[in-house]
Amino acid sequence: MTHQATDVARDEVARLAATPRRALTLADLLRHGRPPLSEDALLASANFTLSLLPARLASRIQAIRNLPFIVVSNPHVSKIYHNYLHSLSTLLPYQQRRITTLQEEKQFGEVLADLVQTHTNTIPVLARGFLESRKYINPEDVTHFLDTHLRARIGTRLIAEQHLALHFASQPVGDDAPPPPNPIPSNYIGVIDTALRPARIIRVCEDFVGEICELKYGVRPRLEIGGEPEASFAHVPVHIEYIITELLKNAFRATIESGNEREPIEVTIAAAPDVPSNIRPMRGDADIGFELSANNDSVAPHDPIRQSSPSSQSITIRIRDRGGGIPPDVLPHIWSYSFTTFSEDDFQNPDSSSLGALNTIASTGGHLSSIAGLGYGLPLSRAYAEYFGGSIAVQSLWGWGTDVYLTLQGVGRVD
Ligand SMILES: Nc1ncnc2c1ncn2[C@@H]1O[C@H](COP(=O)(O)OP(=O)(O)O)[C@@H](O)[C@H]1O
Ligand SMILES: [Mg+2]
Repeated sequence: MTHQATDVARDEVARLAATPRRALTLADLLRHGRPPLSEDALLASANFTLSLLPARLASRIQAIRNLPFIVVSNPHVSKIYHNYLHSLSTLLPYQQRRITTLQEEKQFGEVLADLVQTHTNTIPVLARGFLESRKYINPEDVTHFLDTHLRARIGTRLIAEQHLALHFASQPVGDDAPPPPNPIPSNYIGVIDTALRPARIIRVCEDFVGEICELKYGVRPRLEIGGEPEASFAHVPVHIEYIITELLKNAFRATIESGNEREPIEVTIAAAPDVPSNIRPMRGDADIGFELSANNDSVAPHDPIRQSSPSSQSITIRIRDRGGGIPPDVLPHIWSYSFTTFSEDDFQNPDSSSLGALNTIASTGGHLSSIAGLGYGLPLSRAYAEYFGGSIAVQSLWGWGTDVYLTLQGVGRVD
């Protein structure tokens, strides 16, 4: 990493990590209004983003520092650590002042784009780091660290991507360049699609996973969508894409490997009746929680978006496969970041016959695009679902197939 990265003073990190934070709210994501934003609103969004990120990055840096020294010294864990130091160091110059001009806002946008990019394909790196360190840290501690870390990562990326999306959707307000060729559809507010149809995303993911299956197995199972394919709500498309891709990879793989590729994967979509309910915040931890309460007190004066009170609006998607179910010896472990399923032999001898994690990492070229992953698919999907108050439940019929129930809580109603 850049030598600038190492210059963030230890006590500065400690001070930032100790600053009080609260969970992100829907109001936070909507408070600057619907794009294109006015100059004032865009600057307010930039400053608001700046008020949230440094403390969260510092808190990640501290959490990594608190791992056993030998783990932090692992080159892959160390790379992640330096990524965070680097990102924090790029934000610190903005700490002492406000962003007051469109020129500064544009530069800040470049810093945010770098932040998002720096942490984009880091999950295989983390996975490898913890795989190599597993002699020195017990599995529960790893799962706890990764669970907190990856949930916090969802929040940090969401904050940065929200401002970036508002920035680009507000061009040419902030830029003299011509507008992008594909104008952003008007039902987007930043990264939130206020009229998201899960059925559409399922078809896109089916194509993607189907391609991988054809490459690897020469076949692709069919997928049927039933229930209410027209159902829509407000949610973050990239989160749903991630989850559905992981669930379909598991379902397609099991279906093909059990020789049942003639049996379609059945997807059923059900929308919950839209009645107001008391949705409680998911978690107390400010870094990883998201509060669904539409806290209008904190809404900035620019706010032209009307938010209804939190509604129970949720969509449940059942993915049913005939892939034989989950082996009983695997079932208890499906929610842990399963670095432990790889034996020491796999690790030392990547050519050994069993599926080596390192092979997996190598064959994906750093991207999680292979059909069999690193054992992060289910736990990370659950982290994404729970971030906005949803859930994932797995019901295995050993010898027959698997039902996965993905419930997604809409991020509130946006009128
Ligand atoms: N639909 C399914 N059918 C059968 N087994 C499954 C299914 N979904 C998950 N599994 C089992 O759970 C394990 C963990 O899944 P996941 O977290 O996605 O990790 P990975 O796919 O990387 O191994 C899989 O390796 C597989 O053994
Ligand atoms: Mg998987």
